[in-house]
Amino acid sequence: MQATHRPYGCREASSPPSGPLAPDVTRATTFAYPTAEQLRAVGEGELPGEFYPRYGHPAGRRFEAKVATLEGADGAVSFASGMAALHAIFCGLLRAGDAIAVSNYVYGGVEALVSTDLPRFGIEVRRFDPFDPGSVTRAIDGAVKLVHVETPTNPLCRVVDLKRIVDAARRCGALVSVDATFLPPPLQRPLDHGADLAMHSATKILGGHSDVLAGVVSSRHELLERLEAFRRRTGAILAPDPAWLLVRSLATLELRARQAAENALKLARFLDGLRASGGKVARVHYPGLPHHPDHDIARVYMKAFGFVLAFEVAGGLTEAIRVYDRFRVIARAVSLGGVETLASIPLHTSHAMMPPDERRRAGIADGLIRLSVGIEPYESLESDLAEAMTP
Ligand SMILES: Cc1ncc(COP(=O)(O)O)c(C=O)c1O
Repeated sequence: MQATHRPYGCREASSPPSGPLAPDVTRATTFAYPTAEQLRAVGEGELPGEFYPRYGHPAGRRFEAKVATLEGADGAVSFASGMAALHAIFCGLLRAGDAIAVSNYVYGGVEALVSTDLPRFGIEVRRFDPFDPGSVTRAIDGAVKLVHVETPTNPLCRVVDLKRIVDAARRCGALVSVDATFLPPPLQRPLDHGADLAMHSATKILGGHSDVLAGVVSSRHELLERLEAFRRRTGAILAPDPAWLLVRSLATLELRARQAAENALKLARFLDGLRASGGKVARVHYPGLPHHPDHDIARVYMKAFGFVLAFEVAGGLTEAIRVYDRFRVIARAVSLGGVETLASIPLHTSHAMMPPDERRRAGIADGLIRLSVGIEPYESLESDLAEAMTP
């Protein structure tokens, strides 16, 4: 008999709520059945029921079902971290002899994975600039089986024209995966624009409270089955407790994301005002500002302009550190997407390993400060920045 019960969460049908509104977390690692036949049938997926948590568990499927519903996907598969999710996409869907085309603007951990590990297993890695149409077409040909982009990018919040990437990939029969960690659904939904896989480090705004490490990929069944099988073989499933916390977090995802994006837009305008009046700000990077290079593209792909912004302090690194060390509300920390506003200096954190000339070519100034804006009352953030910037 064919398996009929999927081991991952599927998009929820809208139906009136029934049962516990806050289901308990099941931590059991094994489950007893009255007969050999029942245990066999559950294990084969012919009957509903729990079997072994590396094959899926209730809290994980609840989380996956909610993410899939938000993304408009058939389902989702969750992982122990964002990197585990990316590992599953790259190594679960590619084989030796395939090529992958990777955007130049990806998380440093992705860069390390694709440059260190994929070639060891016979996967060719090509790079391209998603903002240069010529570079996209040069990198993608029939050998490429997967095209991977991140949008919006870190830390300059560039917004990729997904349609251009999807069209180029389609012409060559390649899949497109999008790391959408910097803007969650429903504010950005890559699958609506033809992407095959939408991935998140759920450690960031999906979790939203800086207390969970997780990753998740939404897609169609054909690809989810391969990702789930890879997860089963490699074991990087999200554990029940963080999955349970994530279900709770998702209840407020849209509220948090919209509030953070509203704060970010106001802060970007405030900082841009300082720039225009000759203050301590040399440049502001936020797609909600009309002078951002992707402002028009952002209007197509984003329902709000996101919760991350970056600004260059006039006077370079020394002045940036002086401003940074004076924050009293904003926390000096890496990561993003929490309810609290965090600031980092990319030169010291996310881009510390990048050679200086490459960093400059990527437009990352030494005096750049990145903010992951939270949901605090706006005035407290503006006055923190204003005070930190007084001479
Ligand atoms: C854009 C992006 N993708 C993936 C990751 C990796 O996620 P995780 O730290 O959950 O493994 C990160 C982490 O910062 C990230 O910023």
